[in-house]
Amino acid sequence: NVLILDFGSQYTQLIARRVRELNIYCEIHPYYKLPTNIDNFKAVILSGSPFSVRSDDAPHPDLSMIRGKKPLLGVCYGAQYLAHFSGGKVAPSNTREYGRANLSFIKDGERFFEGVSVGSQVWMSHSDTIKELPENAVHLASTNDVENAAYKIEGEETYAIQFHPEVYHSTDGKQILENFLVKIAGVAQTWTPNSFAETTVANLKAQLGDDKVVLGLSGGVDSSVAAVLLNKAIGKNLYCIFVNNGLLRKNEFESVLKQYEGMGLNVKGVDASARFMKALAGEKDPEKKRKAIGNAFIEVFDDEAHKIENVTWLAQGTIYPDVIESVSVNGGPSAKIKSHHNVGGLPDFMKLKIVEPLRMIFKDEVRRVGASMGIDKELLGRHPFPGPGLAIRILGDVDEEKVRILQEVDAIFIDGLKEHGLYNKVWQAGAMLLPVNSVGVMGDERTYEKVVALRAVESTDGMTADWVNLPYEFLQKTSNNIINKVKGVNRVVYDISSKPPATIEWE
Ligand code: XMP
Repeated sequence: NVLILDFGSQYTQLIARRVRELNIYCEIHPYYKLPTNIDNFKAVILSGSPFSVRSDDAPHPDLSMIRGKKPLLGVCYGAQYLAHFSGGKVAPSNTREYGRANLSFIKDGERFFEGVSVGSQVWMSHSDTIKELPENAVHLASTNDVENAAYKIEGEETYAIQFHPEVYHSTDGKQILENFLVKIAGVAQTWTPNSFAETTVANLKAQLGDDKVVLGLSGGVDSSVAAVLLNKAIGKNLYCIFVNNGLLRKNEFESVLKQYEGMGLNVKGVDASARFMKALAGEKDPEKKRKAIGNAFIEVFDDEAHKIENVTWLAQGTIYPDVIESVSVNGGPSAKIKSHHNVGGLPDFMKLKIVEPLRMIFKDEVRRVGASMGIDKELLGRHPFPGPGLAIRILGDVDEEKVRILQEVDAIFIDGLKEHGLYNKVWQAGAMLLPVNSVGVMGDERTYEKVVALRAVESTDGMTADWVNLPYEFLQKTSNNIINKVKGVNRVVYDISSKPPATIEWE
């Protein structure tokens, strides 16, 4: 069990991911709220931060419970923090220290740097630098520009590095984390998808006993994996509800429902398309559309849940990034860009207890846990799909005819990606139906029909994204297919905007 104290670095979650990749369990906690069960943690990592340690409003937590008592690793700000408050000197650096650098000196015979050689590439991102080390420090490594790139404190298991071992560009970063956690701190590497699934099922059994649980399935990875874990734990006491909001992909409701049944889940498919269409009728505003869909979902789900006698729990597919209490850099919650609605939102009036089997794991781990339980690869590899479905890809008001057109276009695009071996190279793809007509010519006839935009992006978490450079030949074929096969569309464009400044969905 490893504790990562977050000082607000954009890379904090990456540290956790790297540690998990070593099959070691870890948790992120904000620096101002040390966990109460601190004894359970075998080692502690201090993250980076956008702050300067010299500033008064920078994080200055009391580490007396940790320092000298447990193996401790300071990364970037963490390293400066340890130096600054132990008699060292931190000051603004004279040269820019961003991006790649290479270790030019490594002290011989240090377990911390085992397997790492001089020349190894590391990633720097800091404007302050450690000018002088604390008195009881031992200098461990340098780069050309950064003299004190790594040090340890004599008589403690305290280590500090100025560079970021967690980013991909630090070539031996994972090795260094492994050296610290395994060789120095003696943490066991027993956190595997299998062990997670086994422990979770056992815990769910103990927690839920003979209670009944209701779960909203979305067809996505998270709710599906959560359902399989719960099914293993409580079997038929798990009641899954899969709602057709009429805004899913072509044939998705039927095929996914079949797949769920094939997995042995106790699942009920509810076709509420008409109700959603009615709730959306004439609505043009993106946020109001989202609200209408969210409310309709809650109504349908609540109706269905009430039909299950004595149900006391609501299960959700919440994952770790949604629950991490991140340190906000500007002191306030980040600006609301879109109100994301997720399947399974709890209305206040449904007084159910919440169970979230995936709340401590990341998306890639959800996939690995799913695979370890034998869930179909295709289901696990599915692109993310927004809760409000095609409604936020139909710009302006939504009706059945527009949904039908977009389903056809989307199916041609997505099937094409699969046929050309491109689906798994793309993080998310879809089509947008634009509220504009353009002039075209088909045969000798003038046409005046709809424009669709295709979008395919690379991303890791949807927070930032870049458009994918799909082969021209593929785009050409897809465009031809769409215009020839989908009545009502006479023009196809490809979206080449990154996020930011654009978002992934158009609404
Ligand atoms: P944006 O458009 O904000 O999308 O760049 C980022 C990711 O979130 C998905 N998305 C949603 N998911 N409910 C959801 O469950 C929503 O209202 C919603 N809006 C966007 C989007 O598909 C992308 O993966």
